[in-house]
Amino acid sequence: MIAPSILSADFARLGEEAAAVADADWLHVDVMDNHFVPNLTLGLPVVKSLHAATDLPLDCHLMISDPERWAVGYAEAGAYNVTVHAEAITGDPVRLAGRLRDAGAKAGLSLKPGTPLDDWSEVLRSYDTLLIMTVEPGFGGQSFQHEMLAKIRQARSLVDTGHLNVVVEVDGGIAEDTIALAAEAGADCFVAGSAIYGADDPGRAVGALRRLAASAR
Ligand code: DX5
Ligand code: ZN
Repeated sequence: MIAPSILSADFARLGEEAAAVADADWLHVDVMDNHFVPNLTLGLPVVKSLHAATDLPLDCHLMISDPERWAVGYAEAGAYNVTVHAEAITGDPVRLAGRLRDAGAKAGLSLKPGTPLDDWSEVLRSYDTLLIMTVEPGFGGQSFQHEMLAKIRQARSLVDTGHLNVVVEVDGGIAEDTIALAAEAGADCFVAGSAIYGADDPGRAVGALRRLAASAR
């Protein structure tokens, strides 16, 4: 699956930018609060408008503090998948996943590059999506951290052995020169911002990335 990140899109034309990647699988929406990460993007009102403007399933990546307070609102706003950061959770992560599912969304958990998968492998049994960050969250256009391939392989093996039942999603630095590596390591879903919205034709870029991932798998 390919999930274009609108972080690299034109925020004044989000409806058109979503339409330009209509063949994608998910539309990745980076929510940043200038607290959990040092950058500020968009929030619930924009997600509500985007949901009304596109048929693409919205994949909301919440890079925010206090997800217990805010995350369920994104599920209620119609997000298909709501991903919170493990490092931001202060309460019971299993209960938070249940609240997201009760509100009608898939529950996602994201790990920053420095956060070990081992610390979260039991909790992840209650989640639908594991978002492995392959850059430090906060900004688009960074370089893929090759050291994260081991974490992707570990996640793939936890799924293949039946310990987890999650979509393994990767985010950060995914482009034509890196997507095959992440696919070989076992990722199922690929977020790409600058590689898609920086291209002359974002729709064609989605197709090119999908073909590269499929042949590597
Ligand atoms: C970074 C965001 C990413 C970002 C990826 O914190 O979570 O989704 O848009 O951008 P690229 O694909 O340019 O690395
Ligand atoms: Zn993201």
